[in-house]
Amino acid sequence: MTSKTDILKSKIKEAHIGGGEKRIESQHKKGKLTARERISLLLDEGTFEEIGMLSTHRSSNFGLEKQKYLGDGVVTGYGQIHGRDVYVFAQDFTVFGGSLAEMHAKKICRVMDLAIQNGVPFIGLNDSGGARIQEGVVSLGGYADIFYRNVQASGVIPQISAIMGPCAGGAVYSPALTDFIYMVQDTSFMFVTGPNVVKTVTHEEVTSEELGGASTHSEKSGVTHFAVENDLKCIKDIKKLMSYIPQNCEEEAPSIPYNSNTDELRPDLDTIIPENPNQPYDIKEVIQHLIDEDSFYEVHENFAQNIVVGFARMGGKSIGIVANQPAYLAGVLDINSSNKGARFVRFCDAFNIPLLVLEDVPGFLPGTDQEWHGIITNGAKLLYAFCEATVPRITVITRKAYGGAYDVMNSKHIGADMNYAWVSAEIAVMGAKGAAEIIFRKEIAEAENPEQKWLEKEKEYAEKFANPYNAAKHGYVDEVIEPSVTRKKLIRAFKILKNKVAHLPKKKHGNIPL
Ligand code: HXC
Repeated sequence: MTSKTDILKSKIKEAHIGGGEKRIESQHKKGKLTARERISLLLDEGTFEEIGMLSTHRSSNFGLEKQKYLGDGVVTGYGQIHGRDVYVFAQDFTVFGGSLAEMHAKKICRVMDLAIQNGVPFIGLNDSGGARIQEGVVSLGGYADIFYRNVQASGVIPQISAIMGPCAGGAVYSPALTDFIYMVQDTSFMFVTGPNVVKTVTHEEVTSEELGGASTHSEKSGVTHFAVENDLKCIKDIKKLMSYIPQNCEEEAPSIPYNSNTDELRPDLDTIIPENPNQPYDIKEVIQHLIDEDSFYEVHENFAQNIVVGFARMGGKSIGIVANQPAYLAGVLDINSSNKGARFVRFCDAFNIPLLVLEDVPGFLPGTDQEWHGIITNGAKLLYAFCEATVPRITVITRKAYGGAYDVMNSKHIGADMNYAWVSAEIAVMGAKGAAEIIFRKEIAEAENPEQKWLEKEKEYAEKFANPYNAAKHGYVDEVIEPSVTRKKLIRAFKILKNKVAHLPKKKHGNIPL
């Protein structure tokens, strides 16, 4: 018996060492943790249960039969984060550069299947040279098996990907199919084709970092939702994200206790909107005053900053916030901000997280660049996402709600449950200056002093329409409020809406304008 136990112990030891001490050392020298170190930091102490530790590849191509590593370059299993179950995989770069082949893929698929069947979130820690070149087409098949499961899992369980090393070629598409991507700065990259191929095909000279590093994808492409300094921060942040989201689409997000006797008035909000409607202010300041202290976790912070999205708690409960940002491009809606907002709204709706929309939007961004790249189709995504969302939805119009953007930003007409307007709100077809120019063009042109006339007419239009009262008259806003009472109103409103039942018409699936 002892010898049999020793065999097992020796195999476990062998598996734990992965590709060997030298490769582990090289991993550490790059500033990266190993797969097992990452998992042990991610999961609550002592909760990890490994699945498939003793798997090895079955290939004999190019002398592979002489290079077998227990686990085949990926550690898979389940455990807990803050006492809640999760399934995980972590690719082991010390074994064939974490490359993916038949058994490696099978192990990932196994935990994905278990995660989907049991309604448990799925977290993938990626660090891989891509398809294992020696195994050929079975590696490609393995990727497709994973892609298929990513899509089956979409909207059923939350899926989170961390890119903690290379991620190239078709390998990028599994993370892209998941709900959130983290990238570690300096040590990770994602691209479909690397710098060498780019140089051959387009003659562009570009480094891996420029082409697909964490900054590029968090600022320019929006592929990644989060760019983080190092492995430790990445893991810490994944745990934070988990605290806002539920286990699956049938459950509610976790909440924390809330003392309902607290004074919820926020007088600072009464002076936050500048007198001059063209002067910017920071919507994140408004958010901080409205939510539970220090509870905002911003998503896509560096991408399309004219819209702010993120999770927060309101009276202890998780909410998703979508807010125009007047401090960046005047909060205008464009292609990137529409995509960013739409994707976030759809995540929240899929996972029962109520939505708060803060609106201060002058309209859609004009110009050939926007029109030729499809602002129509892309703006429609945000509209579609709001229209189909059945979670509780509340809108607060802080200042401008102009034109089509008024409709899109969770207006009453497209299914919002409660719509508030601050006393500073201006709900109109457009700003007073532009409106006066169009409707009084003839009068202005014929005036003795056209400049003076224009100002007069602008004032007249502003007095009539740059306020919330016309919208309130028609029932488009439920209440006009002073900013300081907003948090109190929101806590009460989200509470009364918590049992909302709403169904979409029976269908196979909708056809969002992709
Ligand atoms: C097999 C691989 C490998 C791969 C790396 N290794 N990538 N083994 N298949 N795809 C091995 C190396 O041989 C080496 O083994 C070890 O991993 C570490 O690699 P290094 O090159 O020493 O590390 P580093 O300098 O950090 O460079 C990492 C790298 C580079 C940038 C990932 O290895 C690389 O460019 N690899 C090839 C990437 C690639 O072209 N993959 C296929 C993409 S196509 P030893 O024994 O020395 O430790 C693809 C299609 C997917 O993935 C399609 C899905 C639909």
